[in-house]
Amino acid sequence: MILELPRRTEHFGAVRLHDVQRVYELDSGTRKFPTKAKEAVATISSDEIERINQKMVIVVPVKNERLKLLEGVLSGIPHDCHTIVVSNSSRSPVDRFMMEKQMIKEFNHFVEDKITLVHQQDPGIAEAFASIGYNSILQSGLVRDGKAEGMIIAMLLGKMLKKEYVGFIDADNYVPGAVHEYVEIYAAGFILSDSPYSMVRVSWVYKPKIAEDKLFFPKWGRVSDVSNRYMNHLIESYTGFGSEIIKTGNAGEHAISMRLADLLFYASGFAVETYELVNILEQFGGVIPPANPAVMLSGVDIFQIETRNPHLHEDKGDGHIQEMLSSSLGAIYHSPICPPKVKKSIMDTLDNKTPVRKGRKPNLPTILEPPLKVDITRFVATLRKKAQTLTEFG
Ligand code: GDP
Ligand code: CO
Repeated sequence: MILELPRRTEHFGAVRLHDVQRVYELDSGTRKFPTKAKEAVATISSDEIERINQKMVIVVPVKNERLKLLEGVLSGIPHDCHTIVVSNSSRSPVDRFMMEKQMIKEFNHFVEDKITLVHQQDPGIAEAFASIGYNSILQSGLVRDGKAEGMIIAMLLGKMLKKEYVGFIDADNYVPGAVHEYVEIYAAGFILSDSPYSMVRVSWVYKPKIAEDKLFFPKWGRVSDVSNRYMNHLIESYTGFGSEIIKTGNAGEHAISMRLADLLFYASGFAVETYELVNILEQFGGVIPPANPAVMLSGVDIFQIETRNPHLHEDKGDGHIQEMLSSSLGAIYHSPICPPKVKKSIMDTLDNKTPVRKGRKPNLPTILEPPLKVDITRFVATLRKKAQTLTEFG
């Protein structure tokens, strides 16, 4: 892959926020070579990418998506990555989880990938969490609904596999080629990072929509527009300089080095992607005294890399958009580093965009604790014994 080096980097305490980078060529061959423009671009060889892939788990959270889409996503993930599918699909009246399991089994008969599958509502998983005292993920004796909860399960499985990187890809992607590109982008970001604490967020060049029977390619999603703006307001209010650095406030497709993933708190529901950034600024931004001084020395790299492929996924309607909007803004609003001026402005926007809840503060997100605190040996022992849906293919 040949991609642009970050043209600009903004510093927020120990956090390096890199501006969006373009991909120039998807595949630049097996050999690393210096182009004439080596001050502007990085050449990442396919050998280097493969070496990262072998150390990376790709997590696919899925809830009642069409099987064809899930299968397409699996087909786009490079063979060297270990795939973890965490399903929260319904088990009755139709057992969609069983359908997913059957599909993966058939798929894997041909490809022999390493795939781990588990159901989020498996009582055995809840028991494994209870056994280590990780109660923030539980509700009425089971793991709560939500993508973030699925992500936590997957990160712990990734730790069990001793992987160094974890990447996330939604199951509702229509384009397997885009999935493949996301994974290469994750690997490229980790190769560029100067720190073991790094995050790579995908920025979509376009999210195509059908408008008046024509395909239209808008640049920004409806929610990301707003959450990026407030992330940038938050940053500006400390640096004193206007900022447009954040362009991936809601990137569902992103990857984290396990060393960083281990330290973060996660927000339940649709706030998860925005809150990751907020929490990174809280923990390593220097506004609040840092709990992990070692990280402050290495710094944290946040890359935002723009895809060549368009992002085509299921349109889940306006209700979903409103929910995403208030959760993401809630993640910013309730942060201890969010200044009163930004809070006020968030309230104005929410009143405007979701008039039904006028005057009400966004909900306080439920927060899940960092994976680092988990006794992984114990968790896995209970999981292997009790979780009946846990299936390890390949
Ligand atoms: P959007 O793309 O941000 O609009 O959100 P989606 O509704 O498409 O959700 C993102 C991904 O998470 C999709 O692959 C969903 O199937 C999946 N997902 C949604 N809710 C849950 C959940 O409760 N648990 C799990 N494991 N996955 C979920
Ligand atoms: Co989606």
